[in-house]
Amino acid sequence: MDTRPALDQGPLDAVDLADPLLHAHHDLGPLWRRLRDEAPVHWQPENDSRPGFWVISGHADVVSVLSDSASFTSERGNVLDTLLAGGDSAAGRMLAVTDGQPHKALRSALLKPFSPRSLDVVVESVRRGTRRLVEEAVERGEVDFAADVAAHIPLAAICNLLGVPPTDRQHIIELTSSALSTEDGLPDEEATWASRNGLLLYFSELAAARHDKPYDDVVSLLVTKEIDGRPLTHEEIVFNCYSIIMGGHETTRFSMVGGLQALMERPGQWRALKSGEVTVDSAVEEVLRWTSPALHSGRTATQDLFLGDQFVEEGDIVTTWLASANRDGRVFAEPDEFDLARTPNKHLTFAYGPHFCLGAFLARAELTALLESLRDLVAQARPTGPPTYVYSNFLSGLSSQPVSLTGEPAGSRAPLTSSAGGG
Ligand code: HEM
Repeated sequence: MDTRPALDQGPLDAVDLADPLLHAHHDLGPLWRRLRDEAPVHWQPENDSRPGFWVISGHADVVSVLSDSASFTSERGNVLDTLLAGGDSAAGRMLAVTDGQPHKALRSALLKPFSPRSLDVVVESVRRGTRRLVEEAVERGEVDFAADVAAHIPLAAICNLLGVPPTDRQHIIELTSSALSTEDGLPDEEATWASRNGLLLYFSELAAARHDKPYDDVVSLLVTKEIDGRPLTHEEIVFNCYSIIMGGHETTRFSMVGGLQALMERPGQWRALKSGEVTVDSAVEEVLRWTSPALHSGRTATQDLFLGDQFVEEGDIVTTWLASANRDGRVFAEPDEFDLARTPNKHLTFAYGPHFCLGAFLARAELTALLESLRDLVAQARPTGPPTYVYSNFLSGLSSQPVSLTGEPAGSRAPLTSSAGGG
């Protein structure tokens, strides 16, 4: 149960969806419902500090915007912060903010290392590492599930994939967290930019090292690969490493913590997972729908057009709210119920269309590993302190959740089998 006050009254124009405090301090479920019902294509008016932007909240409209990258480009940014600031400096060079042929070429270069077959080894190591982390957490009894368990799983997987040495991982966790959100919600542009630059510098140095001595990892692949008959530029390499770590760490971590939180609040669903009444595959999809860690995908209209009954002008910022689309009652029966057996489950957590998340298979495999470990090793989980919500208008989740975990008796634990998991 979300214990934050619900935002369900007052004029829609008075709500500022760009404000990170709004997202951290409120349960926005009722607001999304109002937007979907009353103003599915809503203009969020400009204020002293930022321009206005369109807010798209219904599943069908979100799908239609995200499918059409010719009318709605990502090249001027794909998240509110960069869109409102006037553009993304990595446009045309980083996958998420590149469109057309350059996007196709870059994406097809990256598809192979993200394919299920290439990820076999990474996934197996995710399963073993996750089980070890959950075992250690059970031994300790009380942990901060966000910091002590969930933070390590996606980061280890991405570092494995990119070839980041274990000794650098704590440094990368710190830079990634502060590049995306602040602990107290107050904007700290200097710290944010310092962290982003720190990550870029780190990958610049790693790319230079792999250029001299390539290994079997994604950074080496990027430095040796050709796209459209030419090698990738140093900037393309560095921006895309940055994008992989930024795209895959906090998002997956928040889905893990939010998934456990939802299970702790619903003993019936926890029992269904433990008994095998619901499959882990179906549970993973519902955790993804329920948690929606990436709140929105943003675009810019490339031409004048109608969206629903609203006239959108060329150059307008258009934000599609995945978190709202995932609770659209026209697509999901009982959308506000957390139902691990939900099927079909056409959630938009990984977006839709040409920019559909490149790391979706890996994220699903990580969540699978976590839910299997919780199912097999934990008899009971309960919160021991209040959660801390992250301050961001782009990411949604818990940066801290103290919990107590009671283990299953050793004899009744299911052993880890050697088959690779995955979604
Ligand atoms: C794209 C969400 C995990 C790498 C996206 C997009 C979303 C998303 C919404 C589309 C952005 C847009 O439309 O502008 C998530 C969520 C995850 C997750 C919720 C975890 C639960 C990962 C992982 C990786 C990753 C594990 C890599 C290790 C990427 C990349 C793109 C992307 C590179 C850009 C794809 C493109 O533009 O073609 N992700 N992601 N993501 N994601 Fe993920």
